[in-house]
Amino acid sequence: MKTLKISDQVNYIGVNDRTTTKFESLWPIPLGVSYNSYLITGSEKSAIIDGVEVSHALKQIDHIKDILGDRHPDYLVINHMEPDHSGAISILRQAFPEITIVGNTQTLNMIEGFYGVTGNTLAVKDGDSLPLGDGCSLKFFLTPMVHWPETMMTYLEEEGILFSGDAFGCFGALNGAVIDSDMNADRYFPEMIRYYSCIVGKYGAFVQRALKKLSSLNIGMLCSTHGPVWKEQTAEVISLYDKLSRYEPLDNGVTIVYGSMYGNTESMAEATAEALAAAGVKDIAIHNASFTDLSYIISDAFTHKGLVIAAPTYSDGLFPPVKAALEALAVRGLKDRSVAILGSHTWAQQAVKVMGRQLEETGMTLVGDPIVSRHAPGADILEQCRSLGHTLATLL
Ligand code: FEO
Repeated sequence: MKTLKISDQVNYIGVNDRTTTKFESLWPIPLGVSYNSYLITGSEKSAIIDGVEVSHALKQIDHIKDILGDRHPDYLVINHMEPDHSGAISILRQAFPEITIVGNTQTLNMIEGFYGVTGNTLAVKDGDSLPLGDGCSLKFFLTPMVHWPETMMTYLEEEGILFSGDAFGCFGALNGAVIDSDMNADRYFPEMIRYYSCIVGKYGAFVQRALKKLSSLNIGMLCSTHGPVWKEQTAEVISLYDKLSRYEPLDNGVTIVYGSMYGNTESMAEATAEALAAAGVKDIAIHNASFTDLSYIISDAFTHKGLVIAAPTYSDGLFPPVKAALEALAVRGLKDRSVAILGSHTWAQQAVKVMGRQLEETGMTLVGDPIVSRHAPGADILEQCRSLGHTLATLL
């Protein structure tokens, strides 16, 4: 991707990654991902905002030279130290030895710890400003835990542009256009929910704090580290982040997560889904936890108001893939969902007990009594599942 002027003083100098299969070695990215970086050129100084992942360092340097020619950039502002944005720091420093690295004290400690980079740094505090010339000044806002403790955001005051780090970012490489108004950005919203819920989802309270802190800013453009630059749909994106970080469901759908070795628990999950559909629930996502990647389960659970967990007992405990899914939701503090539980066993009933205990700890509302099947579910058990599905539908 070439550089692109996105405002009077800002150029996009980011890169696309369509070869990494798992972001953070955890989350599949079938649509790729972008590592966004920006170059601000004021009348006196220039500043790069955010870096790129190490294997893309040379592309970013080419972008900078395309714009600045023989001039060196003056500052590199690190809003977020995770290596998808900082991995290229050492190479950038070699290319531009005089560049001053700007971050808060935690950022600068991490830069030294990760890369051994020290010297010629500028530590900034919450509310500090950095002038780049007439009509061009940066203001820094510390926004810890969105997504790491050192995270901050940078605001170009005169143009109303917020460089927001991971916040408002999403999976999905950029396909030619950079700004939302120049593309059909619909495809990025599901990937924003999946990105948020998997990566930032645990830190809802911190996101809320950041949103409050930024609420008085006049934001004309949101420049995240991943995905499109938001110009036309800033309100929608901020509203989505607000809802997700409050753990508010986005719709009245239901996520069904099940594990099944021989199809018996699956029959119970299917019977429940049929009843939900018959009761008018239109958005039902069924995931076999042994096959669906965890990220899609987490994302759907954040989206929907209803949740059904179904699993057999395994080794006197809970079937492992479902256990992993439940733990992932608990780690992220998901709450305010209506949850139904289905379990099966052959000689020792443990699954339902474990699921009940785990869900109780999350503070979610259990709907009705758990349905338990010994051996294969008969017609009576399947009817109980349908009845539970119908009850759940009335609560959505
Ligand atoms: Fe895009 Fe938290 O790194």
